[in-house]
Order: sequence, then structure tokens, then C-alpha cells
Amino acid sequence: MDIKSIVLSEPVGEKIEVKGWVRTFRSNRFIALNDGSTSKNLQVVVDFDQMDEALLKRVTTGACIAVSGSVAESLGAGQKVELIADKLEILGDANPEEYPLQPKKHSLEFLREIAHLRPRTQTFGAVFRVRHAMQFAIHKYFNDNGFFQVHTPIVTGSDAEGAGEMFRVSTLDPINLPKTDDGEVNWKEDFFGKETNLTVSGQLEGELFAMGLGKIYTFGPTFRAENSNTTRHLAEFWMIEPEVAFNDLFDNMTLAEDCLKFTINYALEHCAEDLELLAKRQDDEEKSLPQDKRTMPLLEKLQFVANNEFVRCSYTEAIEILKNSKPNKKKKFNYIIEEWGADLQSEHERYLVEKHFGKPVILYDYPAKIKAFYMRLNDDGKTVRAMDILFPGIGEIVGGSQREERYDVLKKKIEEFDIEEESMWWYLDTRKFGTCVHSGFGLGFERLISFVTGMNNIRDVIPFPRTPKNAEF
Ligand code: 4AD
Ligand code: MG
Repeated sequence: MDIKSIVLSEPVGEKIEVKGWVRTFRSNRFIALNDGSTSKNLQVVVDFDQMDEALLKRVTTGACIAVSGSVAESLGAGQKVELIADKLEILGDANPEEYPLQPKKHSLEFLREIAHLRPRTQTFGAVFRVRHAMQFAIHKYFNDNGFFQVHTPIVTGSDAEGAGEMFRVSTLDPINLPKTDDGEVNWKEDFFGKETNLTVSGQLEGELFAMGLGKIYTFGPTFRAENSNTTRHLAEFWMIEPEVAFNDLFDNMTLAEDCLKFTINYALEHCAEDLELLAKRQDDEEKSLPQDKRTMPLLEKLQFVANNEFVRCSYTEAIEILKNSKPNKKKKFNYIIEEWGADLQSEHERYLVEKHFGKPVILYDYPAKIKAFYMRLNDDGKTVRAMDILFPGIGEIVGGSQREERYDVLKKKIEEFDIEEESMWWYLDTRKFGTCVHSGFGLGFERLISFVTGMNNIRDVIPFPRTPKNAEF
């Protein structure tokens, strides 16, 4: 039986077998056993006199064991039932001289170095059970709302975001590159006969499907070779990208807000035990901080976001707010906002969300210059129908837009952005044949998990983080 079922059904009197990893073994009598099915440990009681001493010596933290015995009501505090062991078998030893995890508090930095073992800790067990539930909630949300999932390619020839932050995919020998007559690398000889890279977004291909299936979403790995060593950036992350025919920017905002609230509520409902544990972790972590530096308690924060309407604020309004803000006037921001057109840094985003509005904020109608080529130009000729959703503690969690559906305008934009038009023929075709208003957004899955679990560093919510100079495991 797995431990989750035992805790749920409390099968007192039954004979069962469990397998799992030893968390602690105290007083030569009580083993706290965990098998990952739940954050809860099963208390296994061994009778020292009945068991082989050499065998019990091998019951150390991290060892994998199988125990059979009968379930009994527990007299001790902390658990309703326990397992009285008749038979204990060591499946795999964990030499305490070498095993790096001990029943004490380890720093998250240390655990990142042993990311192959951290799934065995209470915190990471909770994080990754929540992550699983959240991805299920995303699929449930879109499926229940009539969306179709599309598997967009991971290897592509395009740069969807036009930011040039791509990982090249090539089978050419770097020491012996084939050259053209004028000395350039001859990509025609590469595997795909052209330059290819790992995708930075499935959006462009997603749009093609929205123009046939109506409502689609993608949920896949995404790669960005940006040299950002922050707590919110990964070089490999997972993104959810819905795309909807006939939706305008405001429908898009409504969809994104509804989707976020649904998935957060799903976690509150289905991951209560793990979230409580993570909430307690956050409390412990912040205990030493002064009151004004502490974040809202985790569960309160999640309920707050799930139950309050997000603020909608145009970029132009936001610039006014920021210009007149205290940190701007007192030159406390690293980037002082001087005029309309400035790109917003995370310090500005966080000011708006955490200080000014105190709620998630949807910023929209950004200057065309600081956004991607595919966003629909407004009638003012200088802003585009873009929207970013900003969350407390996270900053940007969603980026989306209404797409430029007018052939001529899009073609001109492609020229202005210096994008190779020939490589975009298929994208432009959708505007030539049966074009329509449509919108979509990208939700960064790890940023969502970071928010829901209260784990401040994005490296702690993906199994094996890829960041600059780091691709271990
Ligand atoms: O704002 P971004 O770059 O938008 C797009 O890629 C669009 N194609 C989406 C669309 O309209 N279909 O990225 C979307 C989201 C961000 O808001 C952020 O949550 C996440 O993806 N994100 C990252 N997460 C982790 N590490 C990174 N390096 C990220 N870059 C973006
Ligand atoms: Mg963005």
C-alpha cells in the first residue's frame, strides 16, 4: 500500500507491506518512512529485541526499505495510525558517512547542488506534487473550455519573439564548418538545410492552428539563451500559450485572469496539505525579517489573488503613476522613469503591483517600439495591443497580445523589424487567406509554480534547472 492510502483509509488491523525511504530512525524504535505519495510520513514501530541488530543498523536516513506488519492505532501525537513491523528488509543502503541529506535544515542553495536527491526532501516533494497538480489543472481548464492542445515544434527556423536569444540546433562539425564561396558558414549542408534553433515560443505555429481549430493552446518546453541570472529566469522553461480566433485584447485579458484563478483555486482545493507545508516553510524562512519585509502568508496570498479582480491599467497611466512615485522622485529606482516610451523594469512592475495597487495588474497598450512585431498596432500609430499580467513577488507572469491581422500592416512591421520576409511566408499567408481578429498569451509555468508554492527562486520549482553555466544532471 502507498502511504497516502494508509493515511486516508486508516486500515487498522490489516496486514500490509510498504516500501519507501527512511527519513529518521529514533530511539531504535520509530522509523519515519516516506514514499513520496504524500508529504506525511508513516510511523513504523520496530521491536528492537525481535529484530536482527545488524539489520537495524542499516536503517539510516535515506535507506530504502520494505516493511510488512499490521496497522494499529497510534498512541503518539502526530499520526492516527502506525505500522507495527513484523518483517523489515533493506532494499538499498544509504551509508550515513556519504549520504548528503540529513534530518536537519539544509539550505536551498545546497539542495540545488544535489538536485538528484532533493526530490526526497519534504519541501521538494511538496513543490513537485503541486507542480504536477497545476499542469493537470491547466489541461483541465482548457479542455473544459473547448480548447485543443497543439504540439508545436521544438526545433524551428524562426525567432518568434525577434529577440535573437536562441540556442542553435546543428549537426555540423564546429571544427570543420562547410563554407560558401564568400567564406560564410554554409547552412545548406546542415541537417535541416537551413539555420535552426530551439523554439522561444510556440505562438506563431499556434496562431496557424487557431485559424482553423478556433481555440487552441500549447504547453511545451521553451528555450531562451538570455544571459539573465535572476530568480525569475531559466534558459529552459515551460510555457502555456493559448490562441483564440475572434478574441480581442480584452477577451484575452479575461481568459488569462480566469485561467490563473482557476488553476490557483485548483491548487488550494487539491494540494491543501502540501501548500500548508510550504506556507509553514515560508513563515519559518521569513521569521527573522522585519514585519514590512515579510510577504503575505502563502494561503492568504493565493486566496487573495483567486478572489479579487485584477486591475487593468494602460501603459500610459502606469508611466504617470511611476513618474510621480516616491522611489522615482527620490531616485531610489535603478532606472528612473523620465518619459513615455521607457521599458518597464521589474522594480517598476513590482512597485505598481505591491505598493501602488496591492493587487495583480494587467498593463496594456504598450509602446510599439518595446514589443514584438506581431502585436496589433493601435489607431494612435505608436502603441500596440499588448498586455502583461504582473503578480506580487513575481512581476510578469503572463505576456500576450491581440495579433496584427492586417496583411499590409504586418508586412510593413516585418520590414521595420528587419525580419527576413521569405522565412515568414507561411505566417503572412494566414493574413492573406481568411484573416480575422485573434489574440493569445504566454503563461510562464515555472513563474506560476513559484507564485503558488512561495518558492522565491525559479530554480527550485523545475526538476533540473538550466541557467547560464549550469546544465548539470
Ligand atoms: O512575454 P513572453 O516573451 O511572450 C511570448 O513568448 C509570447 N509569444 C506569448 C504569446 O503571446 N503567446 O513570455 C511569456 C511568459 C512570460 O510572461 C514569463 O512568465 C515566461 O513566459 N517567461 C519566462 N519564464 C522563465 N524564464 C524565462 N527566461 C522566461 N521568459 C519568459
Ligand atoms: Mg514578456
